Amino acid sequence: MPAIPHFSSLLYWAFYLVPVYLFIIVPGLRALFPHQTPGPLLQDDFYDDEFTGGLESVADDTEYAALSCPEDPYRVHIFSRTPLIVYIENFLSESETNHLLDVSEGKYKPSSIYNGDSERVDFSVRRSDRALLDRDNVVRCLEERARSFQGWRPYLHIEQMWTQRYNVSGHYRHHFDWSGSGGAGDRVSTFMVYLQMNGTGGGTNFPRLRRPRGAEWCRFIECDDVTGKNSPDRLKGITFKPIEGNAIFWENLRADGSGYLETWHAALPVLSGTKVGMNIWSWNQPPSR
Ligand SMILES: *[C@@H]1O[C@H](CO)[C@@H](O)[C@H](O)[C@H]1NC(C)=O
Ligand SMILES: *[C@@H]1O[C@H](CO)[C@@H](O)[C@H](O)[C@H]1NC(C)=O
Repeated sequence: MPAIPHFSSLLYWAFYLVPVYLFIIVPGLRALFPHQTPGPLLQDDFYDDEFTGGLESVADDTEYAALSCPEDPYRVHIFSRTPLIVYIENFLSESETNHLLDVSEGKYKPSSIYNGDSERVDFSVRRSDRALLDRDNVVRCLEERARSFQGWRPYLHIEQMWTQRYNVSGHYRHHFDWSGSGGAGDRVSTFMVYLQMNGTGGGTNFPRLRRPRGAEWCRFIECDDVTGKNSPDRLKGITFKPIEGNAIFWENLRADGSGYLETWHAALPVLSGTKVGMNIWSWNQPPSR
């Protein structure tokens, strides 16, 4: 017949088992199952993983935080909702414009075009000179302006900027800024910024966009086309005037990564004087898993 344990021996075991439970078993369980340990509710518990993941993924965040940039100087007008096209007045201040023109001087090289994997200069397609801009603080502040304009969209990467100089007869035939490679590795948006125009011609033409009603837009787009309505020379669509300091922003890609055909555009030939423009291209670069 098994012996009924004596009350004093239960106390004896409890004397050893309580500390073992408190100091070994409980901490061991906490380490193994951290979320099951009830504890005080912290504010951090309310953030979900995706939200923090998106914030952490933005490249160079600390770099931009350390900059002290001037207030954004611009005014915006929505031109189109689908695709999103926004006209931006005074995107650049005069001192920023002058700085960009100064640092480009002496760095211009003929612009090339890409055909599959070969690069060449072809004046019949694209005639201009371009200069790659160093990422000085003025340029970094422009990158931050472009990021802020786009709501600090996660995974956005700003391509290193080029200025483009067009002499008389300089132009760029109709093209897309997107490649159609689908989402990652493509230009989600474009800022076309005008730095200098001291002559005529050189507008940015979008043949697939419709001219808005009303005369308000005539400040920014060509409204007085002198060619007859049925003339083959008549330009289709709309043409933005190259106005110094102003910019056009447009989205190239839909949410699914496919490109908007409406963004087909050209730099029309410069007829007199010199035009200098600058592109700011944003890429969608989610982290590779
Ligand atoms: C534009 O003019 C400059 C100065 O005359 C010249 O060096 C350059 O080659 C010209 N660029 C093009 C693309 O014609
Ligand atoms: C336009 O500016 C360029 C410098 O970028 C200069 O060489 C040219 O003489 C100017 N032309 C006119 C008509 O002012």
